[in-house]
Amino acid sequence: MLTVALCKGKLIEPTLELFARAGYAGAQLATDSRRLVFSCPDIGMIFLIVRPTDVPTYVEYGAADIGVVGKDVLLEQDSDVYEPLDLGFGVCRIAVAALRGQRSRNRLSSKIRIATKYPRITERYFNQRGVPVEIIKLYGSIELAPIVGLADRIVDLVETGNTLKAHDLIEVECIATSTARLIVNRASLKLKHEAVTELIKKLRDAAVSTGTSKKISARSSSGTSRKTKRTRR
Ligand code: PRP
Repeated sequence: MLTVALCKGKLIEPTLELFARAGYAGAQLATDSRRLVFSCPDIGMIFLIVRPTDVPTYVEYGAADIGVVGKDVLLEQDSDVYEPLDLGFGVCRIAVAALRGQRSRNRLSSKIRIATKYPRITERYFNQRGVPVEIIKLYGSIELAPIVGLADRIVDLVETGNTLKAHDLIEVECIATSTARLIVNRASLKLKHEAVTELIKKLRDAAVSTGTSKKISARSSSGTSRKTKRTRR
C-alpha cells in the first residue's frame, strides 16, 4: 500500500481527477465529509487529507509515501523531500501587492512592512534585492492588512486576481509561479521503488496527455531542500 497525503482546498479535485485518469479510479473520496483517512485497497492506496502546509511534513517524516502540494508551500518550507513531477495544474503566482494608488510607501519608517503567509519567501526575495522589510506573519485573509493599515504591502497567492481586485489592491511584483507538485519520501523511493515509480510514470503520462506536466530534473528535485540529505522512516 502507498500512503498519499492530499491537501484540503483548491488542489484536491484536480488531484483526484488526475489520479482517476492515471488509472487510480478508486480514489473517489467523500472530500466534503469530516473523514481524514480513506483506504482504497482496490488501487493499493490510503489517502490522508491534511492542510496544505502539513503535506511536506507528512511526506518528509514518512507518515505518507507521496504527497501533492503547491510549489508555494515547498518554497516556503524547504522540506527534505524528492520532487519528481510538476503536475501542471493549480497555476498561480506568489506576488507582492499594494493598495491602488499606494505603489510608493506611505509610512515614514525605514522598512516596508509586509503581511504574508510566506515569511521565508518574502525575506529571501527582499534580502536579495537589498530592500529592508518588516514581515508580519498572518495565516489567512491577507488582503485585509493594507486596508486596515497593518502593512504597506502583502505577499500572497494570486490565481484569478479577483481577491486583489475586490479589495482595491494591485499586483506590483511577481516573485514566483506555483503549480501542484508530486513529492515523495526519500526512503519510500527506495523501499517501495516499484510502486512509487509506477505511480510517478502513470501520473506523468496522464498529466502530459492533458496539459502541462513537466519532469523536474534530478538537480532541481534535490534542490527543493537545502538541508543535508536525511532519511526518516
Ligand atoms: C488564496 C490567496 C488569495 C486567493 C487568491 O486564498 O491567499 O486570498 O486565494 O485567489 P484569486 O486570485 O483567484 O482571487 P485562500 O482561498 O487559499 O484562502 P486564505 O486567504 O484563507 O488563505
